[in-house]
Amino acid sequence: MEKEMLNEHEILVIGGGLTGLRAALEALRSGRDVAVISKVHPLRSHSVAAQGGINAALGNTPDRGEDHWEDHAFDTVKGSDYLADQDAVEILCKKAPEAVLELEHMGTVFSRFENGKIAQRPFGGAGFPRTCYAADRTGHNLLHTLYEQSLLGKIKFYDEYFVTSLIEDDGKCAGCIALNIREGTLQAFSGKVILATGGFGRIYNRSTNALINTGDGAFLAYDIGAALEDMEFIQFHPTTLFDSNILMTEGARGEGGYLRDSEGERFMKDYAPEAMELAPRDIVARAIMTVVNKGRGIEDEYVHLDLTHLGAEKIKERLPGIRQIALDFAGVDPIEEPIPVQPGQHYSMGGISVNTDCETEVPGLYAAGECACVSTHGANRLGGNSLLETVVFGKIAGKKASEEVRGQKADKSSFSAAREKDRNLINSITEKKQGILYSDVLKELRETMFQHFGVFREGEEMREGLNKIKLLKEKFAGVYVESDSKKFNQALIRTLELRNMLLISEVLALGAIAREESRGSHYRTDFKERRDEKYLKHTVVKKEEAGPELEYSTVNLGRFEVEEREY
Ligand code: FUM
Repeated sequence: MEKEMLNEHEILVIGGGLTGLRAALEALRSGRDVAVISKVHPLRSHSVAAQGGINAALGNTPDRGEDHWEDHAFDTVKGSDYLADQDAVEILCKKAPEAVLELEHMGTVFSRFENGKIAQRPFGGAGFPRTCYAADRTGHNLLHTLYEQSLLGKIKFYDEYFVTSLIEDDGKCAGCIALNIREGTLQAFSGKVILATGGFGRIYNRSTNALINTGDGAFLAYDIGAALEDMEFIQFHPTTLFDSNILMTEGARGEGGYLRDSEGERFMKDYAPEAMELAPRDIVARAIMTVVNKGRGIEDEYVHLDLTHLGAEKIKERLPGIRQIALDFAGVDPIEEPIPVQPGQHYSMGGISVNTDCETEVPGLYAAGECACVSTHGANRLGGNSLLETVVFGKIAGKKASEEVRGQKADKSSFSAAREKDRNLINSITEKKQGILYSDVLKELRETMFQHFGVFREGEEMREGLNKIKLLKEKFAGVYVESDSKKFNQALIRTLELRNMLLISEVLALGAIAREESRGSHYRTDFKERRDEKYLKHTVVKKEEAGPELEYSTVNLGRFEVEEREY
């Protein structure tokens, strides 16, 4: 029996990763009644997979002098190919040292220098060793820290609930409807909503992302009238393990690892002669693809990440996780042999459009972390800035939403109507006795996205890709699940995620086709130059009756002049 009751809270955080937990803690500290709704147990959130570290201008590296937040900000803006909003970058970089120290005080066990200070390693696109780390399991450490902290307070956790709709009441977001995955029931929740659902990497077939990263938050926000911003900017991490695409942290290059082609040459000298392997990710990923396309890859597929010269001691101390992954998934011991790597989708720079207080255009709806676009990453994110964004903007979102709680009650009829709509959607899937499997549509979608909207893009190919996405949307209407049970029906959840992914892919495609330039991660072989006069703008897509509608908005410049990027 479905309970028609309403679960009332002041703040609803959707997503139990680093952003969600940081937001929830802040709401709790502000005296709010807060709930976290997550489709997996929080410790299974994708944040746990973050490896290399979190950036902050602490300047701890012995004999390197001081580091400054302004330098961090400059590197971030330049890395973004000048598309980042500089006011947002300023907040990110200024608050970084305090955010890292706060995590340490909460209990994160960071790696240390001999002098006892938090250790920092060089990362791509950074002019200073500024990435604080816990070996190569930084996300794991941070997530466990925040989860522990959140268990100390009275946060209510709804684990394994899949949110199907946000509630619109009198032009405001008033809560959500979620499917209790265990019981198979639809339940209603009221409160201000903070979306912290992560990225949408799983629309690609080569991805470092957890299978749960399906763009649910972006879909929900779009569906209720919020804008999506810069969705065409997809980061391909240069070094993912060949074939399985498990992340091989940039920290490996930060510790001194080399990239080599089939001749053993360090080919980055041809693409970023100064920064070499530590150029920003977009540049390194393109270099690897170019090397492979020119026939200088190994087995025509990958290049080598060579750590053998670092020595066993350093690898075991600083990179134990990737050594184990390389052993387990490729049968390669990085102490003895180079690791086969290829670029794979890693991060979504775009997301739900928010201001620097994490507010969307829909009152009562906030977003932070990878699902949001504030925009601190512009066209290309620097490694180590993602973990930072989760805690800095998670905290801001929790604080802002808490300040806005006014105690008014939402109209219960909007919850009933939304629940009815979602019940009908679910029934329409489970009641079909035959049709096409979600997995077939998903496989085709992922192949389409990689082939047509990958590292290199071209107009005609992208238009073809968009047509394929539209056909897949039509096919989606025929998706059925083999069991009509609502309880723990994983195929049903995957099907609901697929609906979200198809929309996200379409929005991404529209933005990529319209942007006739190359900037950061969006590289077009038919428009190889950056075109500031026309495209130094954010892409903004909103839901209209006829479908997604695209416009542009201004980039907040300020402190740093727009220049050419050279590394
Ligand atoms: O390579 C890495 O460890 C990834 C870090 C990041 O995406 O920030």
